Amino acid sequence: DWTMKAFREEAIERIRAQVGTGRVICGLSGGVDSAVAAVLIHEAIGDQLTCVFVDHGLLRASEAEQVVTLFRDHYNIPLVHVQAQDLFIGALEGVSDPEVKRKTIGRLFIDVFDEEAKKIGGADFLAQGTLYPDVIESVSFTGGPSVTIKSHHNVGGLPERMKMKLVEPLRELFKDEVRVLGRELGLPDAFVGRHPFPGPGLAIRVPGEITREKLDILRKADAIYLEEIRNAGLYDQIWQAFAVLLPVKTVGVMGDARTYDHVCALRAVTSIDGMTADFYPFDMGFLGRVATRIINEVKGINRVTYDITSKPPGTIEWE
Ligand code: XMP
Repeated sequence: DWTMKAFREEAIERIRAQVGTGRVICGLSGGVDSAVAAVLIHEAIGDQLTCVFVDHGLLRASEAEQVVTLFRDHYNIPLVHVQAQDLFIGALEGVSDPEVKRKTIGRLFIDVFDEEAKKIGGADFLAQGTLYPDVIESVSFTGGPSVTIKSHHNVGGLPERMKMKLVEPLRELFKDEVRVLGRELGLPDAFVGRHPFPGPGLAIRVPGEITREKLDILRKADAIYLEEIRNAGLYDQIWQAFAVLLPVKTVGVMGDARTYDHVCALRAVTSIDGMTADFYPFDMGFLGRVATRIINEVKGINRVTYDITSKPPGTIEWE
């Protein structure tokens, strides 16, 4: 794609001009955006870049391995894999408000990046995979063009105390363009085609207070749902699909016994840029199969529902 080739060259020049001889830390989320940003920046400045992947305990099944493998083995880009599960999950104890969850997670991300920056002798820049829709949504949410972490969703501005400046080479791009750029940069198709995944991870897919137990239940249900979507050949037609573990228990029956377990909601949407979305019209047979598997295989869930809300008025995530 000639436009992306040109964009790539220009972006590399811009990154070099902005960064000079400075050191850059890039937070990887496991998603396409931060991966593309990291690979682009690495092309521009090589080992002035250190990538940091924070495992906050809010990732999906086998997500961490996939990211680490891609960066270390495929690209040979140095990657610090921070194990911060206890830090994040501890700080989220007792927190049930979605915005407080995001702020807590955003603040801890900054703390971890700051700490990692110190370990490498200081960093001047923090790189992020912010896209154009994130920029617009944050402006409309905060009422002003404030600097944001990834989007309105996260922290809504770097804390004063953070000395690092932002490098955001994808700020003018939409998701589909980032995918083209990713292919241009040689990212494997399987990675480029991945559904978006939010920075706060599974914390915003367990409405209300999270616990390790709920996260484990959700991970299992989510893995089954995505496996079925892949097996049905539907993954690439869907913008995003995921399970949500509701903080509601309902009565069911298994064999001769009464159960009293969580409800799991399934979400799948089509979208161009995440700003508007339509629920995906699965056939009922497919949904029935997924529901049966989840209820049979995941202890703690005895009821499954499918979310048929489009955006607007719903958001894609439940929190
Ligand atoms: P909503 O739920 O606002 O989501 O319709 C639109 C897109 O943004 C993703 N999203 C987030 N991404 N941090 C992120 O990095 C967040 O806090 C966040 N909240 C939502 C969501 O997954 C969808 O792709």
